[in-house]
Amino acid sequence: MTKSLFAIYGSYGHTGRLVATELRDRGAELILVGRNPEALRTLAVELDAGDQVRTRTASVDDAAALREVMTAADVVIQCAGPFAVTGAPLATAAAEAGCHYIDHALEPHHVKGVFDSAQAAAQRTGTVMVPSLSFYGGLGDLLAGAVADGIADIDRIVVAYAVNGWRLTTGAKNTATHLFAETERLTFSDGTLHAGYVEPRNAVFPFPPPLGPRTMIAPFPSSEVVTLPRHVPVRNVDLMLSTSAFEAKEAFESEHIGAADRAATDFTIAVQVIGEGGSAAGQLTGQDLWRAGALASVEGAVRIAEGRGPAKTGVIAPGEAFSAEPFLRELERQGAFTLTLRGEE
Ligand SMILES: NC(=O)c1ccc[n+]([C@@H]2O[C@H](COP(=O)([O-])OP(=O)(O)OC[C@H]3O[C@@H](n4cnc5c(N)ncnc54)[C@H](OP(=O)(O)O)[C@@H]3O)[C@@H](O)[C@H]2O)c1
Repeated sequence: MTKSLFAIYGSYGHTGRLVATELRDRGAELILVGRNPEALRTLAVELDAGDQVRTRTASVDDAAALREVMTAADVVIQCAGPFAVTGAPLATAAAEAGCHYIDHALEPHHVKGVFDSAQAAAQRTGTVMVPSLSFYGGLGDLLAGAVADGIADIDRIVVAYAVNGWRLTTGAKNTATHLFAETERLTFSDGTLHAGYVEPRNAVFPFPPPLGPRTMIAPFPSSEVVTLPRHVPVRNVDLMLSTSAFEAKEAFESEHIGAADRAATDFTIAVQVIGEGGSAAGQLTGQDLWRAGALASVEGAVRIAEGRGPAKTGVIAPGEAFSAEPFLRELERQGAFTLTLRGEE
């Protein structure tokens, strides 16, 4: 394992803990960061890794403390959300201090904001920043990149998430509430990113067997509308989430359940690429979407720390930062999901 130092912001939340535990198990040195010093100390004791783990209290409005953390660390993984609240200060601090950066956001406006606001500073300081390297957003972007490889003249990419048993954390619930109430939605059609009101509707997406056709919420607000057109030439991006994600009343009433109950999700992410020069499809299927997202962010962070990241610096989409299929195959090897590309069924 690299001798790099990894900062985890929002480290004592559910996602932060999964990230911290995975990095500890890989032997990495960690700074656990967040606004609650007691929660940081408790997590450090739980991780039980001696000098390998230290803590630092820093709220998102304490620019000096954030700068100190980002100057000490080689890579930060930002796990605190909603990113509409926490996102900009962390991204700015990382870009200015030259600390490589990965986050778990799915919010399109935050991800666009990182590209728009942090790009110049990140390039100046030689920083690699990959927003949305998580389950929603990142895995869809990577899968679409893998499926689209070799397809010419792509008219449309559909990314469809089917989720059962999702039990939202406080952070996820606040993020979902914010996203679904948003009237200025970002969508990508006719080769252009649009901002404006979009009427929510139901669609049906034909998942491959055994799932079959499912009722979907469309459009689903997720960051692929921002990231995917940056590395795949496409005219339209459609994002959907199965209505089953929110059907059980427990979805929004499980903020305080244990990690094992939260792990009991089933997911399929299916991608259709429709081009004049042919079409293609692929899917990821697995359990525990939280772990899949955490493993994606850790794999990206470790690769960047070890010099196996993208050849260029600046803000980069997941599927542009990493070669999509080999990256997904590595996560499959780690047990995050099963990857099926066309022709493998
Ligand atoms: N894209 C994806 O697939 C994906 C996957 C996992 C998570 N996420 C996102 O990651 C975020 C965290 O999710 P989670 O499941 O880990 O939630 P969680 O268990 O509720 O943890 C949230 C964490 O964020 C911190 N936080 C919240 N507001 C903060 C603020 N204003 N300043 C500083 N820290 C703040 C919390 O600290 P306090 O306890 O001190 O408030 C806590 O450490 C959410 O936005 C979620 O949508 C996305």
